[in-house]
Formats: sequence, C-alpha cells, structure tokens
Amino acid sequence: MRIGPLDFGERPLMLAPMEDVSDPPFRILCKRYGADVLYTEFISSGGLTHDSDDAQKKLDLYEEERPIGIQVFGGDVEQVRKATQIVDQAGADLIDINFGCPVRKVVRKDGGAGILRKPGKMRRITEAVIEEATRPVTVKTRLGWDDDSIDILNVARMLEDTGVQALAMHARTREQMYKGEARWHWLRRLKEEGVRDIPLIGNGDALSPPEVEAMFDETGVDGVMIGRGAIGNPWIFQQAKTYMETGEVPPAPDWEERVEVVAEHLALKCEWLGERTGVLEMRKHYSGYFKGFRNASKLRHALMQETEQQGVREVLSGWDPDAPEIRLSKASLGGREKVAGGEGSHAPGDRDAPTKKPAPPPALA
Ligand SMILES: Cc1cc2nc3c(=O)[nH]c(=O)nc-3n(C[C@H](O)[C@H](O)[C@H](O)COP(=O)(O)O)c2cc1C
Repeated sequence: MRIGPLDFGERPLMLAPMEDVSDPPFRILCKRYGADVLYTEFISSGGLTHDSDDAQKKLDLYEEERPIGIQVFGGDVEQVRKATQIVDQAGADLIDINFGCPVRKVVRKDGGAGILRKPGKMRRITEAVIEEATRPVTVKTRLGWDDDSIDILNVARMLEDTGVQALAMHARTREQMYKGEARWHWLRRLKEEGVRDIPLIGNGDALSPPEVEAMFDETGVDGVMIGRGAIGNPWIFQQAKTYMETGEVPPAPDWEERVEVVAEHLALKCEWLGERTGVLEMRKHYSGYFKGFRNASKLRHALMQETEQQGVREVLSGWDPDAPEIRLSKASLGGREKVAGGEGSHAPGDRDAPTKKPAPPPALA
C-alpha cells in the first residue's frame, strides 16, 4: 500500500488517532510492537491558530515514530487553512483531516462528522488543506451522519477528486457514535465502487488479530486501522501480523513483560510531560494493561495512590499476580501499603523493580 511517496508494504496496520491515548509515549510503544503507521490524536485548528499550549504540545513528534500523520480538525475553512501551515511545519509524513469525530461540541461547528451534512464545505476544507500542505493529505471519516443520509460512495469519489491520497473509514454513522456493529459491508462497497486509485483504510471493530485478518479478507481494504484494540494492548499489531502469517495468535506478554511495558510507558510519559503529570496521565492506562489478571482492580487502586514514578515501580515490582483473591476492608483502601507489600498483604514485594529507563527519543526538528 502506498500513500504518495510512502510505501507501507502489504496489509499495513495503523494506530488510530485517539484523543488522550495516541500521544508520543503510546505511539512509540505501538510502533515498537509493529504498527506501520501512527496518527496523532486530533488537534484543534482553533487551538493551533490561537497558539494554545495544549494544541502545540500535541504537535510533538519523535524520529522513531515515522511514518506518522498529524490529524487536524475544524469547521472553519480559513482557520483550518492557517492550522495546516502550522501543522506542516511540525514535520509529519502525512496530514490527516478528521471528518469523523461524533462529539456534539465538535459537530456543532461543522467539525468532525458534522461536515458530513455539508459536502460542499467538506470539499472546501479539504482543498484548503491540500493547497497549504507540502505532504500527502489523508481523510478519516464515517459512513454518514445517520442511516437516512449515507452518501459515502459519492463523498469518497469527491475526496479523491480533490486530491486526498488515502481514505480511512470508520464504518459507522455519526448517529451510531461507538454503538452497534461497524458495518464492514460498506467498506467492501467503498473498495469496489467508491475509491478508484487511492488506498482505503478500514476501521471499526478490528479488535483482535482474527478480526484484523477478517477485515482484510471480507472487505478488501488496503490497510486496517486499530483503535480500542490497542489500548492496554500495544502488542496487538505484532500479534495480528503473526496471526496473518501463521494462523496462530502468539500469547500476550506474561506478567513480567507487561510490567516492563507499563514501566516503559510510564517512563516515556514522565519524559514527555514531567514526572507529576506523567504519573497522573498514566492512570487511565492501568485497567487496560491488567485486565483479566486476578486482583486487577486492587492493583489499579494501589497504583492510583502513587504520585511519583518510583512509587509506581515499587507497587508493580512488589505485586504478586498469583496471590489469592485480596479482600480489602474500606479502611485499607486508604493507602497502598496495605494492598501491596505492606504487613498482611498477599504481595511479597521481593521482585526487582523494572529499572530499565529508555533513552529519551530525539525530538524532530
Ligand atoms: C478514546 C478514543 C479517542 C478517540 N479520538 C479520536 C480522534 O482524536 N480522532 C479520530 O479520528 N478518531 C478518534 N477516535 C475514533 C477511533 O480513531 C476509531 O475510529 C474508533 O475507535 C473505531 O475503531 P476501533 O473499533 O478500532 O476502536 C477515538 C476513539 C477512542 C476510543
């Protein structure tokens, strides 16, 4: 599969843009575990043009992330045009336009999926981005606003005519939000009757290696984009590749490797955001990483008490995943010591802390 000058090989796998998830630390992990293309979370064109620190921070990219696309959104043509000039300077390989976000405050201003109701304006925004960008422009969108207004075959042709170089399709309508099944039959129709010469990237409910392969086989898409399936599970890319080669899903990382990945994820977060914010921001990832393990909610609770990297590492290294079910009294929920490694705890606390600290990746110029 090619996007402009970039060659991604056969059946490439993309990390989906995900707000508050697809940041540099998480992207780097997904890349190490086999993601072929990464996308940033969506970045507000208004935030970029008003020089908001938050939006600027989201432009941080690292050399080892390449190839990477920056995703931008907005419903004002001239604002998106100016934002594209800023995004273009950040040095990404691709610029992606978000025409799929279903959130009310975004669609209200014609951003995200809101633009699906205004194809003329969708074209003008796309043209403005392509005019300003010095790199290939891609679009990520949904099937339509609701079931009664799906016109995605024409929309896809229009986007291709405008000069978009790949189309990523989340196979749901805006009305569906994230509910119901993704309608993969639309991906097949789009491949057969919608796009002509540009790659189609399928997205929606490819949550496991067999589902990734099934999306390729059943729809004929050129690439598969994985979102929720990668949260707490960045090794899904490698697993899916192995599955497609051998028919076997390799075992997920065991406890020790998982702890190492979490420690690395945390270290990258702290490197990028500073210790305090990094530790706080890491909290939303614990349930994904330890889902299915005995006492997972107790572990998460213990990790949530920590405000420093070292404390998190100590909880992790002292935790025994094979310990019998821990029953906590309300009083004991107040502090981590009773949960992990403290007197009366089932956790032995005799493991070595995962001390490997990754070198900070060099930021792009
Ligand atoms: C937490 C979260 C944040 C998301 N943020 C974005 C975003 O910033 N831009 C975007 O295009 N889609 C966003 N999405 C949608 C995903 O990119 C993807 O289209 C959707 O999750 C369906 O794919 P999946 O079934 O593989 O998760 C987000 C989804 C989730 C779960």
